[in-house]
Amino acid sequence: MNICIIGAGYVGLCTGVGFASKGHKVVCMDIDQEKVDKINRGEPPIFEPGVEESLKSSLQSGNIKATSDLEQALRETDMCFISVPTPSRDDGSIELGHITSAAQNVGNVLKSIDGYYTVVVKSTVVPGITEGSVVPALEGGSGKKAGEGFGVCMNPEFLREGHALEDFLKPDRIVIGELDTRAGEAVQAAYSGFDAPVFRTNLKTAEMIKYAANSLLATKISFSNEIGNICKKLGIDAYDVMKGVGMDSRISERFLGAGCGFGGSCFPKDVAALGQKARELGVEPRLLDNVLETNKKQKSLMVAMLKGRLGSIEGRRIAVLGLSFNPDTDDIRESPAIDIIRQLKESGAEVAAYDPQAAGNMKALFSDIEYAETAKGALKGADACLIVTDWEEFKDLSGQDFSLMKGDVIIEGRKVLKPGNVKRFEGICW
Ligand SMILES: NC(=O)c1ccc[n+]([C@@H]2O[C@H](COP(=O)([O-])OP(=O)(O)OC[C@H]3O[C@@H](n4cnc5c(N)ncnc54)[C@H](O)[C@@H]3O)[C@@H](O)[C@H]2O)c1
Repeated sequence: MNICIIGAGYVGLCTGVGFASKGHKVVCMDIDQEKVDKINRGEPPIFEPGVEESLKSSLQSGNIKATSDLEQALRETDMCFISVPTPSRDDGSIELGHITSAAQNVGNVLKSIDGYYTVVVKSTVVPGITEGSVVPALEGGSGKKAGEGFGVCMNPEFLREGHALEDFLKPDRIVIGELDTRAGEAVQAAYSGFDAPVFRTNLKTAEMIKYAANSLLATKISFSNEIGNICKKLGIDAYDVMKGVGMDSRISERFLGAGCGFGGSCFPKDVAALGQKARELGVEPRLLDNVLETNKKQKSLMVAMLKGRLGSIEGRRIAVLGLSFNPDTDDIRESPAIDIIRQLKESGAEVAAYDPQAAGNMKALFSDIEYAETAKGALKGADACLIVTDWEEFKDLSGQDFSLMKGDVIIEGRKVLKPGNVKRFEGICW
């Protein structure tokens, strides 16, 4: 099939590269010309394992290209996936500017396209937005009626950054919310090469499935953090507890890792948006609010523990290992490292940070801290070390590496160090 992706960010690029690897002809459209040029050169503008190799091979086979020309992109394709940002507003609700403007632009082009075209919302939008905002923008721009001149679907994306391409290609399920059956059939056909159950439903239900799923995963993490904080006081390793808990097939062991809290562009924003929608509807979202509150507090725990060990941290050199919100991504959106660095700086500490991929993005937020080229560079002369992201390479850090430090306080926000390698360290919940 000929597929257009509108918005070639973390989701859009991985969707585009994934569909191209399945043999579809893909056009990635983005308003950012620099991103477009990079994609056409085979240089992904984001870091995600496997994307560069897959992009290069699809460019070679002619299955993918990028453009900033929406009209050209739509004329060459039969279906577009809109994967533009839906960021949080201050009150937690989502900002619809990108998605409605993208839909309006698509509508303007559809006006002069003969025949049926399928428009798919892949961005995360609260229930009702596809029908209430996207469809009117498409109809307004095109002068055509949804379900007749063009079809509309909502196809939420469940990928995890750090595993984005793998998750896109091997999803647990494919959810297709459809306005009209023809559009649902077309989207299902686009996924015909995927080995996953397909759940077809209406637009609102598909939108809600994404929020319910993310809210439940975030709840599991905040729950684990609360249990972890209790475990810490009792001298119990929260990871052993959750291993035993997760062996229950009703619960599953995934997303039970206690630590310094969740971040990223999805969990915090999606839980807040669902909470805000609930309030609008007169439902008090007590659990959702508490999930976010627990997460916020968890991010402050590491600095509190550090101060408990060192006393004043003014003028002390603190190594921060890991800046991205997850390992294997360069994404720092809502990363716990941001709050941690801010608190360290407010208390007068000197921060020496290291991350295998995300330092470039963090420099835009904090230009006045030290960015080391290696973990050892950050550790050198440090009074203490905070491990914020569980990058694979941190697992191999040894006692010898930590002996480069001036002090001996090592606090893990993610369980990553091996007791056989390093003698003394402490976890925030273990
Ligand atoms: N990142 C994730 O892990 C993830 C997972 C599932 C769902 N989502 C959802 O997917 C959507 C996209 O998220 P993302 O992380 O990929 O965002 P992103 O910021 O990485 O990428 C969005 C891209 O859209 C482009 N863009 C903005 N307006 C545009 C327009 N009018 N026309 C064309 N391009 C435009 C931007 O230049 C950018 O390249 C959001 O709704 C998000 O909630 C994200």
